[in-house]
Order: sequence, then structure tokens, then C-alpha cells
Amino acid sequence: MRTSAEWLEYFRGNQHRLPPTLGEGAGAIDPALRAALVRSLGRFYLGETGEGRIAQEARQSDDPALDDAMCECITLYVREEGRHARALAATLEALGAPLPKRHYTEAIFRRGRRLLGLRTKMMTIAAAEIVGLAYYGLLAERVPPLAPVVRAIARDEKQHLAFQAEYFARLITRGRGDAGVRGAVVGAGYGAIVSCAIATVVIDHAPLLDALRVPRAELAARCGEEAMRGAAACRALVAAYAHATESRPARPKVTNEVSVLSAGA
Ligand SMILES: [Fe+2]
Ligand SMILES: [Fe+2]
Repeated sequence: MRTSAEWLEYFRGNQHRLPPTLGEGAGAIDPALRAALVRSLGRFYLGETGEGRIAQEARQSDDPALDDAMCECITLYVREEGRHARALAATLEALGAPLPKRHYTEAIFRRGRRLLGLRTKMMTIAAAEIVGLAYYGLLAERVPPLAPVVRAIARDEKQHLAFQAEYFARLITRGRGDAGVRGAVVGAGYGAIVSCAIATVVIDHAPLLDALRVPRAELAARCGEEAMRGAAACRALVAAYAHATESRPARPKVTNEVSVLSAGA
């Protein structure tokens, strides 16, 4: 449970870090792996190129989970995704590959996101964090020369997922109406969107998984573990916010006393 100011401090402190580079490591990558790796990294590069509109939408919204500091956090969050895109672009360049043109899965994801409201958009980005964490973790283990680049990206993605848990926990506990109903709606949406994201990444990156001799079920299971971790983090925050609200002393009713005092003055 971090305050908005603490989140902003984190994002501000992280914003001047340079993207990691593959450098000499490119020569150590198995040539038989390159074609599948370049294709797969290119898809993630397109996904990381970001959705700048969400920061503006957040600033214009009256979302109860967002204050000014949280809105600035979203702006910096989107910039971090841009940094990931630059790191992947440099990696592709080190591998001698051109930057990819738009791909239909990324285009569908991007256009679909534009049709959605802020909250659903945040959830699609949370789903991207989940598959990104699993994917970059897998690459760090199976393609060691890539480890410095993908581990650095995964460190940011882990914080992004924690930020998403914070956002949704605030949304559930601060919105209008019944928090239990809101929690159920958020949970159902999360399950559906994350399932689609996992299916897409496993199908889309099958050639790389085959080249690495990684069963598709392994990537799906890793994504599932990250999704469970994200859900557990959100549940813990919801419980913490609910507890904080219950243990806060009731505000004294001063209205009548003030009017009595005013009347006597
Ligand atoms: Fe990213
Ligand atoms: Fe991210």
C-alpha cells in the first residue's frame, strides 16, 4: 500500500534511467534462433510503443482512484513503456534486424483499446504487464545474452503490475455503490482479458517457443502465475483499504454545535 506521493516519487526517480543495451551480446546468440527471436521481439516492440492517450484520459476523468499525483504517474508509466520500446529497438538493431511494421494482432489490440473506457484500458495494459513479465522472464533464462535487457524491462513491469493493483484496489474501495459488486466485476473482467492475452501470446510466439524447445503450456503457466500474483496483490490492497476505513474514527458531528455556537455569539 503506497500513497500517491510515494508512487510519484518512484516513477520520477525511475524516469532518467537509460534503456539497457544488448551490445556485444548479440554475437553470442545462436544464429538458428535469430529469425524466430527477431520476429518475437518485433511483436513486443510494437506492443511497447505505447498508448499516449490514456494519460490524457486519466487527467480528464473523475475516476475516484485517481488524484493529480496518480495521473502524473500514468504519464510517467506510459513514458517507461516508450523506454522499453527503445531498448527493444536497440536490441533488434544489434541483431541486424529492421524495425517491424505494424502487425495485425498489435493493430487489433491498439484499436480495441481505443474503443474502451479508461478502466478497461487500464486492465488491457495490466494484462500486457502479465504476459510481458512471463515472456521477459522466460527469455532471460533461455537466451542468456538477452538477460540484461529483458531483466531490466521486467523490473519495471513488476512495478507497473503493482501500480495496476493499487489502481484497481482504489477503484473497488472508493467507487460509488457496493464494493463487493465492483470487486466481482473487476475480477470477471480481469479473468476474461488476461485469458485472451495469454492465448494470444502463446499462439503469436509459438515459433520462438518451438525454437527454444519450450512447451507452449509452460509460457501459459508462467503467465497464469503472474496473473495470480497480480490478483492476490490487488485483493491484499482491497483488504488493507477496507481495514483502514473501518479503523478510522468516525468524524464528530459538529454541524449542530457550530450552529448553536454561532447562534449564541
Ligand atoms: Fe513495457
Ligand atoms: Fe509495463
